[in-house]
Amino acid sequence: MNTTLATSIDKLIRHKLLTHGEFVALLQANSEQLRADLASEAVKTRQARFGNRIYIRGLIEFTNYCKNDCLYCGIRHGNTNAERYRLTKEEILSCCDQGYQLGFRTFVLQGGEDPYFTDARMTDLVAEIHRRHPDCAITLSLGERSRESYQALYDAGAERYLLRHETANAAHYHMLHPAAMSFENRMQCLSDLKDIGYQVGCGFMVGSPFQTPEMLADDLLFIQDFRPQMVGIGPFISHKDTVFADKKNGTLEDTLFLLSILRLMLPDVLLPATTALGTIAPNGRELGGSNVVMPNLSPVGVREQYSLYDNKICTGEESAQCIRCLSGRMESISYHITVDRGDAPDFPGTHS
Ligand code: SAM
Ligand code: FES
Repeated sequence: MNTTLATSIDKLIRHKLLTHGEFVALLQANSEQLRADLASEAVKTRQARFGNRIYIRGLIEFTNYCKNDCLYCGIRHGNTNAERYRLTKEEILSCCDQGYQLGFRTFVLQGGEDPYFTDARMTDLVAEIHRRHPDCAITLSLGERSRESYQALYDAGAERYLLRHETANAAHYHMLHPAAMSFENRMQCLSDLKDIGYQVGCGFMVGSPFQTPEMLADDLLFIQDFRPQMVGIGPFISHKDTVFADKKNGTLEDTLFLLSILRLMLPDVLLPATTALGTIAPNGRELGGSNVVMPNLSPVGVREQYSLYDNKICTGEESAQCIRCLSGRMESISYHITVDRGDAPDFPGTHS
């Protein structure tokens, strides 16, 4: 390893920050040895902050209707092959009840940008989950909404929001999205969410089409500056019915490399090991500096339909099976699944 690179790694560990140029050089130096060195530092950092605890969140993919047309996404509006579904309020509540019985204390409601779920319907749903399970954290991932909408959902009991920024490079954003979508609005949404008081998660796909080390350095600098409580990253995986059907998938190695860098930059951050990571490598979710897993609580009948990319894993298992399987996999590498709410260390407790 050359001295400049060694100095950068040392700086990243001590100061949690590098310049754009240093990040680019680090990303370009990506090698098996460098990945192993950073992963071992990342594991040390994670263990110092979280021990062997892994947090679980119950994921409910409650609608795959979407008004947007992101070029990479299998549930984009323009995909007429997608079989659409939308869970009823009762079905969503029953997923939460079932999840509660299984020990989940965080529910993540994720969906496409479905106009059916107006503020009135969504706040009613969030308030009812909050009423039934006041000891649980409600996380939303509903895409871009107005500040008023985010505020109303927060007031109804939602405390966390996941909205990947997708890329911090405006030109790259426009290569991944149709002209009708705006980079500025995405960034405004993230800032509104934070301002309101949500624990916020941003993130991006690793190996998305046209991504360069310079763009990834933009992502890392944005994340360093934004200081989210959670960062969701996973490999890009092509979907046959999208504009990017023929684009190359992101790799496990690059994703793990970035997870290590993120852990070193933000030692306290909640880092989910995503399903996309598990999809490209059978043991993908056991690795990296991650400390959160999100088993699927959606009814088995609809899981295949929430198809963002091809060959998604865990679409056929019952929730109980899913959590048993995950716990087994985690215990096998000496991690312990923790059932508590798992708030970000700088955000203890509930807001209401
Ligand atoms: N509609 C919400 C939103 O926009 O945040 C939540 C659902 S959206 C489908 C969730 C995330 O899936 C996106 O932020 C994107 O990063 C990821 N995703 C979509 N298509 C993907 C693909 N082909 N490969 C990997 N991840 C993908
Ligand atoms: Fe639905 Fe991008 S296609 S949010």
